[in-house]
Amino acid sequence: MLRLGVNVDHVATVRQARRTDLPDPVEAALAAEKGGADGITVHLREDRRHIQERDVELLRQRLRTKLNLEMAVTPELVSLAERLRPDDACFVPERREELTTEGGLDVVAYQKKIEEAIKQLQGTGIRVSLFVDPQKEPIEISREIGAHAVEIHTGRYCDALADRERDLRGVVVAASLAHRLGLEVHGGHGLNYENVIPIARIAEIVELNIGHSIVARAIMVGMEQAVKEMKELFKRAREGS
Ligand code: PXP
Repeated sequence: MLRLGVNVDHVATVRQARRTDLPDPVEAALAAEKGGADGITVHLREDRRHIQERDVELLRQRLRTKLNLEMAVTPELVSLAERLRPDDACFVPERREELTTEGGLDVVAYQKKIEEAIKQLQGTGIRVSLFVDPQKEPIEISREIGAHAVEIHTGRYCDALADRERDLRGVVVAASLAHRLGLEVHGGHGLNYENVIPIARIAEIVELNIGHSIVARAIMVGMEQAVKEMKELFKRAREGS
C-alpha cells in the first residue's frame, strides 16, 4: 500500500500572511483526512514562518491518522519534538533564506549529531526518517546510524527539464538500495498531479509526502476533493493503468 502524507504548511502560510486565525491548518488537516490522507505532515521551521507550536499541539490531539513532524536537527527542535510527541519525525536541513527545503540532509558531515538526535527521539517511541538525496552514501549512513526510514528527495526528478528519465532512475535505484538495507522508504518534494505517477509506481516506496500541489488544488476544489484526486492517482499507479 502507498500512504499519502498531506503537508499543510502552506495553509498556515496564507494565515501568517495576515497574522490572523484563518485559514486554519488544523481544519485543513481534518478535511484532508476525510479525503483519504493517511497522515499529516508539518514542518515546524526555526523561524516559525508558517506552522506554529499551537498547530502541532492541536494536530496531536485531533488527528485520527498519524502526525509527521519535519524538523531541523537542533537541540531546541529535538526537545520540542520530545514534548509534542508526533508519531514520526523527519529530519531535514534548513536554511532561513530558502523558499523551501532545497537539498537532502548532509548525513556525512553531521553524522554524529544526527545519530544522537535519532537515539533521543526513537527512545521516546518516535520513528525517525532522514530526508536524503537519492544517492548511495547518505542512504547507507542512514542505516548505520539507526534511522527507521529515509525520505528520498524527489525534487530533482520533479524539476528536471532535460533528462527526467535519468532522475527517475536515480530515485528507483535509491529506493531499491534503502529497501534492501531494511529501511522504510518514503519520498517527497515537488510532487504534483502531473508528475506523481512514475514515483508512485516504485514498489519499495510506502509513503509520499506532498504539500504545495495539494494545497494549491485545494484552493480551487476544496481540500477533501484535492486529496481524493491525489489518492486516485496513487491507485492508478499501483494498479498499473
Ligand atoms: N518532504 C519534505 C522533507 C519536505 O521538506 C517538503 C517540503 O516541506 C515536502 C516533502 C513537501 O514538498 P512539496 O510542498 O513540494 O510537496
